Amino acid sequence: MSKIVVFNGSPRKNGYTAKLLEQVVKGAKAKGTEVIEFDLNDPGIRGCIGCYYCRTHAGCAVKDYLQPMCEAIKEADAIVFGSPIYYYQITGQAKVWLDRTFPMIENDGHTITPRYPGKRVITIFAQGNSDPKVGADGIKYITNIFESYGWKLEDSIQFCGTNNPNLQKFEELSLKAFKDGENLVR
Ligand SMILES: Cc1cc2nc3c(=O)[nH]c(=O)nc-3n(C[C@H](O)[C@H](O)[C@H](O)COP(=O)(O)O)c2cc1C
Repeated sequence: MSKIVVFNGSPRKNGYTAKLLEQVVKGAKAKGTEVIEFDLNDPGIRGCIGCYYCRTHAGCAVKDYLQPMCEAIKEADAIVFGSPIYYYQITGQAKVWLDRTFPMIENDGHTITPRYPGKRVITIFAQGNSDPKVGADGIKYITNIFESYGWKLEDSIQFCGTNNPNLQKFEELSLKAFKDGENLVR
C-alpha cells in the first residue's frame, strides 16, 4: 500500500489551506493510500536546537511531536505540504518545521546528498491578497528546498484573495486538489 505524509502549516483548522489539504487527503484515501498527518501548529513541537546530531545520524535528537516524522517520510511515496502566506512567506510554524527537516540531507562538508530522494510532492498555499506574485518568492523558497531534498514537485496550488474569496475558483482548486491526491497513488 502506498503512503503519503501531510504537513499542515496553517494554525486555522478550518482555513483554506486546511480545506485544500483535506481534499488532497480525500483523493489519496479514495485510491486506498495510507495517510499520516502532522499539524505543524501542535504545541508539542520544538525548534531545531542546532545540535548537528543529524549530520552523523539519519534522524533528529529532539524527542517531541515531530519525532516520528523522519521515519514517516522515509517510508512515504509522497509528501503534501500546505501553508498560508504570512508576510510574503510560509508561516512561522512551517519554518520551525522546515528547520527540523535538516535530517533530509547528508552533508560531509563537501557534498550535500539527499537521504530520502524521489518523493513526489504536492504543495498548497493560501493568501489574502489576490495577486499571486505576493506569495511567489515564499513559494519558490520552499520549493527550492524540497528540490534540494531530491523531491519532485507534481503540482502546486495557490489560492489567492482569501480576503474577498472567489468561491467558484476555490471549488475549482478543491477539485484539482482532490485529483492531485488521487494521482499521488500509483
Ligand atoms: C500574520 C499574518 C500575516 C499575513 N501576511 C500576508 C501576506 O503577506 N500576504 C497576503 O496575501 N496575505 C497575508 N495574510 C493573510 C493570509 O494569508 C490569509 O488569511 C490566508 O487565507 C490564511 O490561510 P488559511 O485560510 O489557511 O488560514 C496574513 C495573515 C496573517 C495572520
